[in-house]
Amino acid sequence: MAKKRNIIVGQSGGPTAVINSSLAGVYKTARERGFHKVYGMLHGIEGLLDEMYVDLSTQIHSDMDIELLKRTPSAFLGSCRYKLPEIHENPEFYEKIFSILDKLDIEVFIYIGGNDSMDTIKKLSDYAIVKGHNQKFLGVPKTIDNDLALTDHTPGFGSAAKYIATSTKEVIRDAMGLSYRRPMITIMEIMGRNAGWLTGSTALAKTEECCGPDYIYLPEITFDLEKFHKKCGELLKKKLSIVIAVSEGIKVADGRYVCQMAGGSDYVDPFGHKQLAGTADYLASYLAAELGCKTRAVELSTLQRSASHMASRVDINEAFMVGGAAVKAADEGDTGKMVVIDRVSDDPYMSAAGIYDVHKIANNEKPFPETG
Ligand code: F6P
Repeated sequence: MAKKRNIIVGQSGGPTAVINSSLAGVYKTARERGFHKVYGMLHGIEGLLDEMYVDLSTQIHSDMDIELLKRTPSAFLGSCRYKLPEIHENPEFYEKIFSILDKLDIEVFIYIGGNDSMDTIKKLSDYAIVKGHNQKFLGVPKTIDNDLALTDHTPGFGSAAKYIATSTKEVIRDAMGLSYRRPMITIMEIMGRNAGWLTGSTALAKTEECCGPDYIYLPEITFDLEKFHKKCGELLKKKLSIVIAVSEGIKVADGRYVCQMAGGSDYVDPFGHKQLAGTADYLASYLAAELGCKTRAVELSTLQRSASHMASRVDINEAFMVGGAAVKAADEGDTGKMVVIDRVSDDPYMSAAGIYDVHKIANNEKPFPETG
């Protein structure tokens, strides 16, 4: 059988505990399907523009290396947040990318990322079709935020949720141990930008032996500082230790993020996303001043997406599955699509890989659903 041409894979956006498991899935399936070389873009499309890439066979030598890669934290190839220009605005940009792909004999281009990264797959596949290039472009879902449309959930979310729920329980126990006579309020700040899935996962801390967080504030619901103050004051009359989970993305009625009220960073990424940090710190200082009690801010920050020491086994396996499924789909002729996770059954939990048009997924955010 004649060898197939080459495949290139990149990682994009914020890393997750299992992003490298998807990379391992791509590599293994590409090898099994007879692709000649598997290249890895260094720092995604941004690095590729500078012709930064690596032949992955120089890094992965055995099945054990594949197993180790599945469990390696951060993005093994390096990541980026890079927004492609609109095709009509900068056709030279696309000519450059496609000349690099042609030079490397690339048949399949795979990008592991979230909704911003799927914009890259959408634009490259559109350009290829319009200009008659025959490369296939496939997306592999990845984000701790769990905000991608049409997939039951995203690889990376389960592990981050597990870390967050466990840490919440530990923080609650720590705070309880010190709450004798003197009240204390702990505010935990969770990532997820405008989607509350991760913050909602703090509710999993509630078990037989743990009461869970006292309040949870999701970014989908407008935050009211006055009401917050009042609720905390009232609860302090009933218990000495209060633990509250807030999303980094909670906003007040005029549309400002709470973290902006404290000043915070002015940094905005190429997709127009403001850097969100400092919400818990602001609220903890506010309550300390208003209620005169001890407060503490716990910002989980990048710990929640890099904590591979407690990655979920299901998450590792699903991330691997979607990586392999993207190679299979491209090899069978698909392009301009993203692999999704379909929930096959709840009990026992079973999932399978499906596939959707990336145009229905790119740049969309799937919010936490409203309940009745
Ligand atoms: O998109 C994933 C995510 O972890 C968001 O939850 C968070 O707002 C963002 O990345 C932070 O990105 P960065 O580390 O680039 O500031």
